[in-house]
Amino acid sequence: MPTTAPAPTRLDRDGLIAWYRRNRERSRRLFDLVEPSAYYTRPIALRNPIVFYEGHLPAFSLIAFVERGLGLPRVDDRLERLFERGIDPDSVDSAVPRSGADTRWPARDEVLDFGARADAAIVGALESAEFDLSGATHRAMQRGEAVFTALEHEAMHQETLLYMWHRLPHAQKRAPGALRYEIAAAPLASTAAVPAGTATIGARPGAIQFGWDNEFGEQRVAVAGFEIDTHSVTNADYRAFVAAGGYSTPAWWSESGWAWRKSEGVEHPAFWVPGDDGWQWRGMFENIPLPDAWPVYVSCDEASAYARWRGRRLPTEAEYHRAAYGSPNGDDRRFPWGDEPPDASRGNFDFHSWEPVPAGARPRGASAWGVHDLAGNGWEWTSSIFGPLPGFEPMASYPEYSADFFDGQHYVMKGASPATAKELIRPTFRNWFRPNYPYVYAKFRTVAC
Ligand SMILES: [Fe+2]
Repeated sequence: MPTTAPAPTRLDRDGLIAWYRRNRERSRRLFDLVEPSAYYTRPIALRNPIVFYEGHLPAFSLIAFVERGLGLPRVDDRLERLFERGIDPDSVDSAVPRSGADTRWPARDEVLDFGARADAAIVGALESAEFDLSGATHRAMQRGEAVFTALEHEAMHQETLLYMWHRLPHAQKRAPGALRYEIAAAPLASTAAVPAGTATIGARPGAIQFGWDNEFGEQRVAVAGFEIDTHSVTNADYRAFVAAGGYSTPAWWSESGWAWRKSEGVEHPAFWVPGDDGWQWRGMFENIPLPDAWPVYVSCDEASAYARWRGRRLPTEAEYHRAAYGSPNGDDRRFPWGDEPPDASRGNFDFHSWEPVPAGARPRGASAWGVHDLAGNGWEWTSSIFGPLPGFEPMASYPEYSADFFDGQHYVMKGASPATAKELIRPTFRNWFRPNYPYVYAKFRTVAC
């Protein structure tokens, strides 16, 4: 790691309480966007209904922090059981009955009351519970792990909520004020040469204040020189692929990608809607004419097919690291732009926008090689299969977080999207999805050797 924070010997309780409250207020605002009539619906078929998530966030925080981290008793055994474990879109195949299909879900008032009781217990614990950061009393509390697990879990769910909301019909959502979009001409295509060097993936245990289990085990990887698109692939770029018959040419697709495309009848990105006057963007609150300069949001299978059509390929996880954090003097940066903390001038993240912005619209976020938007405006697909780093150990506060997904069926995504909290932006953070999952805010760029 380029810059390492020492393992804490004490936690900033006020800062953690402020973060918790910030999280909770944002979650409440997100659930308030949904019309009551949609509260028990499933915007994405494989996921739980919306009601589940409003109970899941406080239930998970109680279980991970108050119970696993501090050993304190349950606040509400029945509701904590009901809301404990969601299903991830990529963890269940469609042959398995949908989780919660027979569940009688509580009224929203009951869910909100449970949330308020959970908040009181969690804030009370953050204020005054005894923390044994050595992990001797409760291993889940080593270096404060369980607190950060709860906080980052809620922030991560806010992103998954938003992309679920993106699938809801517009009539089932309430826009919070006037809608504004950043529209521009698509940037000119260009590439950057990244010389051979070393990529650092992951961190040594204890080297960063908090990381999920899949971030630990520092790995230094030699990366050959490569050439990478300075801008993510835009809707305009991708329109050419669609117009050229990209979705009817098996040669561009992997075997499994083509099988998915055919079986699901996929003919265009999930964020595009065919209209009388051409393609439209499926926005959160309305459809608008497809913005040329915005990154195209697609599945990994679609991204790979486009790259092959261009005679190129997706970057590996290590190549992403070189492009984002490497520098000509050989030092790794803390963020693509340098050491300064993330803010709105560096990228489209942290909930400033419901939608993407034009590729290259945040030049202060460019990496040392002049590559734009590597953290923000959509996750970046890589060609690397998600796997453990050397010495992987499941985390005590959430043992199933990563281990269930080391199945060779998931690909690493890096960076951040408009709906990624700034607290999650760090070099070691890894996201992962099945290659045919089309709903996530994920963009891509291509490379060549
Ligand atoms: Fe969860």
